[in-house]
Amino acid sequence: MIYLDNAATTFPKPPEVAREVFRCMTQYCGNPGRGGHSLSLAAAKKVYECRLAIADLIGCAEPESIVFTENTTHALNLVIKGLLKKGDHVIISDMEHNSVLRPIAKLESEGVIEYSVFPTRTLDDRRNPTLICAGIARRMRKNTRAVICSHASNICSAALPIAEIGAFCKRYGLLFIVDAAQSAGHLPIDMQKMNIDALCAPAHKSLYGPQGAGFLALAPSLSEMLDTLSEGGNGVNSFDTFMPQRPPERYEAGTLPTPSIAGLVEGINFIKHIGITTICDYERDLYVYARELLANSHGVEVYAKNHEGAVILFNKNGKTPEEVAGFLDSKGICTRAGFHCAPLAHKTLGTDTTGAVRASFGIFTRKSDVETLAKALSEIK
Ligand code: ALA
Repeated sequence: MIYLDNAATTFPKPPEVAREVFRCMTQYCGNPGRGGHSLSLAAAKKVYECRLAIADLIGCAEPESIVFTENTTHALNLVIKGLLKKGDHVIISDMEHNSVLRPIAKLESEGVIEYSVFPTRTLDDRRNPTLICAGIARRMRKNTRAVICSHASNICSAALPIAEIGAFCKRYGLLFIVDAAQSAGHLPIDMQKMNIDALCAPAHKSLYGPQGAGFLALAPSLSEMLDTLSEGGNGVNSFDTFMPQRPPERYEAGTLPTPSIAGLVEGINFIKHIGITTICDYERDLYVYARELLANSHGVEVYAKNHEGAVILFNKNGKTPEEVAGFLDSKGICTRAGFHCAPLAHKTLGTDTTGAVRASFGIFTRKSDVETLAKALSEIK
């Protein structure tokens, strides 16, 4: 089986990740923060180890400001709904996933906020950070509170210049919220240097952890400012009717997914050991190879092909994306067809009426997998 759906979730996981999940579940999976006994303390220690590992990886000022969530969508809902107040205006990019678009659209439909969309110029040869920031500047209003955008697209390899957007936000006093679902572990991130106020990411994509955990990383600017999305027990100050003021407990109601968090520690160790730049270069080489082979497979059109990274988006003339992905699946090749929960991004690429097929690479993808994909595509009648 050839797995080319790493943008949905990386597979397989490194053996050390699976081993640690098993070790956690069989040796130390007490409830972290919910008891003074040794298994609860061991679990709490592992959870803190993970906060440290994440903070170190993404340049977050304090490990306590790493808030564990169920996934990226949960983290984005937490920051978006916890931050935005009546009368606020926000600016999002034209490459957003529904994880940003839907909470924003809901707040807008309720009359709470207004939003504008800035062009990423993903199809433009003159795409550059200055032009992108100028597009944001043109949409700024007196009540603009924040810029919210993905770091890397989930449907193609376009990445946004978040260092420059962060510097822009700092200059104009805007908060900067980044959806790093497709980039954490794949592209270098430094929240402090990039002026990122909040960053949301999953354990199970390019950090090679298990499904079931994600995180919201907060800069000191935001750490106590957000309203809570859910309230409940967290093991501290039980007699206080309200949630604590400080993260992480303020935003973590209920039991944490300790086995997923334990596996994530090993996922992060795994990518740190290889090196993010090495991973990024390796996947870019696969992309360049795939682009070349697919261009020679009869009738295949590749979209946004000037962006080189881990994700390639294409269609085969005369076939629907679902037919193509179905055929590939029959040959043992896993891809994802359709709109990938990213209608805005598909509109930007001009694939919003057809959808497309996405093949996405990971560290375990081989060149021969790309060759098999191209060969299978050329066999579709
Ligand atoms: N957001 C994930 C994807 O793009 C699930 O497939």
